[in-house]
Amino acid sequence: VTGVRLRVRRALVRDLSKPRSFPPRPGLLTTDFAEIRDDPSVSLVADVMGGLLPTERYLRELLAAGKKLVTANKQLLALHGPRLAEAAEVARQPIRFEAAVCGAVPVVRTLCEALPPAAVGRVVGIVNGSCNYVLTRMEEGLELADALAEAQSLGYAEADPGEDVSGADAAAKMALLAAIAFGRRVTLEDVERTGIEHVTRRDVAAARAAGKRLRLVGKAADVDGEIAVRVTLEALPEEAALARVSGPRNEIHLYGGAFGSLALAGLGAGGSATATAVVADLMAIAAGTAVSHVTRLALGRFQDHP
Ligand code: HSE
Repeated sequence: VTGVRLRVRRALVRDLSKPRSFPPRPGLLTTDFAEIRDDPSVSLVADVMGGLLPTERYLRELLAAGKKLVTANKQLLALHGPRLAEAAEVARQPIRFEAAVCGAVPVVRTLCEALPPAAVGRVVGIVNGSCNYVLTRMEEGLELADALAEAQSLGYAEADPGEDVSGADAAAKMALLAAIAFGRRVTLEDVERTGIEHVTRRDVAAARAAGKRLRLVGKAADVDGEIAVRVTLEALPEEAALARVSGPRNEIHLYGGAFGSLALAGLGAGGSATATAVVADLMAIAAGTAVSHVTRLALGRFQDHP
């Protein structure tokens, strides 16, 4: 498809002997990051390791070594995206991060590549699959802790599920969506958020009795240059589009004067959904035509030059 044959040269792991669902070929796994950084046959690296450090240092060293990057690390991007974007610019290497936002739903690609800059004025959506799964299961009678344990066992939750239920994961995604939609510098600190950790089965049942469903909703708007981004628990009327999003699915609505509205929906969490986005970005870079997603995090250029 890309005209390029991708070969997996190395995979960095913590523990070589950990049982894995696939048999890695001999020599594939390494615990030594330098083996990847210093291998001239590696031109493209996918980061799915999470965390802030040493991940940021690794990404910077990879850029300096001339590698192109794909990352799923939304917390790192939402906190330090602008400085990572600057490092990518200095190194003249792309970083793409579709996998950091909403699993298999191609919302980063839509904002960066399918719509013209500054076309979007508002973003509204359900962007955390685990919280949506938990709220959906609570509608079926489960307690929050049991529903969250299920979300963890199904691979939807973050390594620290507190990031999901506190709204921090959704806030990071909304910061990234706002930054790339509006071409402005928006980081995690700019996002007001609430989570679902205090929601009880009784709250969910009371909402249902009133014809409503509780959903964790992200909202970002650019009103005459004023950017507001928040994540809130909302009681939505049952017939509302976002109220009908169930399980680990995500749904994002983009609004803009020129095109009206556009909606994207799909599986927002889980290993294979995230891997779909990682592979798509790897292929886009391999094809040689890919734009770098992080340039939109850096300086808000298109708002400066309308
Ligand atoms: N923990 C995240 C979620 C994974 O539940 O949406 C996908 O980013």
